[in-house]
Amino acid sequence: MCGIVGYVGGRPCRDLLIAGLEKLEYRGYDSAGISLLADGQVETVRAVGNLANLRAAIGLDADQPVSGEGAVAVAMPPATIGLGHTRWATHGRVTEENAHPHGDCTERIHIVLNGIVENHTELRRELVDAGHAFTSETDAEIVAHMIEKHYEGDLTEAVRSAFAELRGHYAFVAMHAEHPNTLVAARQECPLIVGIGQGETFVASAIPAFLAQTRNVLGLKNAEIVTVTPDGARIVDVDGTPVDREIEEVTWDEEAAEKGGYPTFMLKEIHEQPAAVAETITDRLPGSDHVDLSEVDLSPEFVRDLRRIVIVACGTSYHAGLIGRYAIEQWARIPVEMDIASEYRYREPVVGPDDLVIGITQSGETADTLAAMRLARERGARVMAVTNIMGSQATRDADTVLYTRAGLEMGVAATKTFTAQTAAMYLLGLWLAQSRNAWPQEKMTEVIAELKSIPSKIGTTIESVEERVRAIARSHQDRPFFLYLGRNIGLPVCLEGALKMKEISYIPTDAYAAGEMKHGPIALLDESTPVVCVATNSPILDKMLSNMAEVRARGADVIAIATEGNAQVAEVADQTLHVPATDWVVQPILAVVPLQLLAYHVARLNGLNVDQPRNLAKTVTVE
Ligand code: AGP
Repeated sequence: MCGIVGYVGGRPCRDLLIAGLEKLEYRGYDSAGISLLADGQVETVRAVGNLANLRAAIGLDADQPVSGEGAVAVAMPPATIGLGHTRWATHGRVTEENAHPHGDCTERIHIVLNGIVENHTELRRELVDAGHAFTSETDAEIVAHMIEKHYEGDLTEAVRSAFAELRGHYAFVAMHAEHPNTLVAARQECPLIVGIGQGETFVASAIPAFLAQTRNVLGLKNAEIVTVTPDGARIVDVDGTPVDREIEEVTWDEEAAEKGGYPTFMLKEIHEQPAAVAETITDRLPGSDHVDLSEVDLSPEFVRDLRRIVIVACGTSYHAGLIGRYAIEQWARIPVEMDIASEYRYREPVVGPDDLVIGITQSGETADTLAAMRLARERGARVMAVTNIMGSQATRDADTVLYTRAGLEMGVAATKTFTAQTAAMYLLGLWLAQSRNAWPQEKMTEVIAELKSIPSKIGTTIESVEERVRAIARSHQDRPFFLYLGRNIGLPVCLEGALKMKEISYIPTDAYAAGEMKHGPIALLDESTPVVCVATNSPILDKMLSNMAEVRARGADVIAIATEGNAQVAEVADQTLHVPATDWVVQPILAVVPLQLLAYHVARLNGLNVDQPRNLAKTVTVE
């Protein structure tokens, strides 16, 4: 999730842009850059690493030692129009060339972009055939050249024409050397907001970028193009039809703004799950019938002859791995062994050259997972890292990497990185099935269509259950214990729900395979025990229903997660929360959302700090 900011007005804007980027640091990044336009010339400085490197490269902190790439101080003109960007790499390595802003062939058009241009490969081919020269590996640079292709003196028209040819989800801002008082921006899915000041206008991916300068904002909807000048903003839709929109005043303080108006980072990140999953799957599902994981460096022979997969991880990542096991075994028919990394590394595992070991770690820095990956690699296994952080240690301890694209997660309790990991597991399961012809094409096509529907279905789930979950939380916030039950692919969802409740509400919980309950845990039940049952549609739902009836017979309070349209579950539950229907193997990515919200609201109602729970760190780098 990149950060973008643009300014046009009467004030020198170099420092305003840098200040804006600093306010977007919470979005996470690995490189940054600015472009300033003065006297018809565009000057650009980019730097890898944190903003201090960019500041040094610009000579902002002349007394500070400069370090890393792009470290030579460059005198920037006192420009009153410019662009700034913090990059969260998705396409192209973390290098100065790949950092934004990007220019066209003439370096007169510059753009900054947040998101992914899905059809970048074919557009790049067309542009190269037409004589365009590219300087980066990024999908984003395409946009500068597309605007160049359409430019005939009117920047808004050129952006509108370019926008019509792009596919994906992105927001970008463009600047042209011939238009020193104009920026043009557009959005498709990714956030973009305009800040209206006195004789100056900002455009940014989030309000914190300009909140210190103005509280008057203009929101942009999907497929809208805005032309901003010092005097204000003019919105048109993709057909060029003017759009009227009220300027609103933001009352948030800066901290709230960083949380996007949500009371906590955790709730913000729960609501960011549709975007996190969309970013993770979009360009890996380019068509309707196949998965493109060309970034995964495993030879077809290795994949064909693969004897076994071992998944190692900790905490929430372990639960995503459990779901991955079901998907890979169901679709690709490859045996999958799953282990907690801190156990795997000390049990003298039998692993070798015919094995693929997958280390799942959102931070990419969890000591036990890294050690387990290294152990497997030493024993000749091929090692894949599934991580959310470019350049993290896991990427160096692996032979190949599959990135999730959830953006930086500030809340200690993982939410959007879990659903992004689960989506990555589904991609991997389908890709392995496809690579080994292990699953009928029509089935593949069906599940690919389902996966593509998941981002909006997560949004629908949050909207449809949040109020009810809040009410359930209110009536259970003082319970001393929660039991979570599930079967088959519902069990990892239970484990994750129980972990969320433990780590942010500090209420003891247990998660159990429902079929196992009568072998002991049933003794824990009494009238006050809330039992959360994941009972979404699956081949063994009937078994799950009878386990729920057993629980209910002991007077426990059953809260069930069921698939929309299934009325059976409600008959054996006190409260039933329905999630949209999808393929049964994909259902967990939806079923977990009500459980995240339940833990969240119980903790909030008990006045707890959900973003920084006691005794917990976001990244566990100690053994
Ligand atoms: C989950 O909410 C916790 N923050 C924790 O269990 C976490 O999942 C675990 O520490 C693994 O972290 P990783 O994905 O960064 O390796």
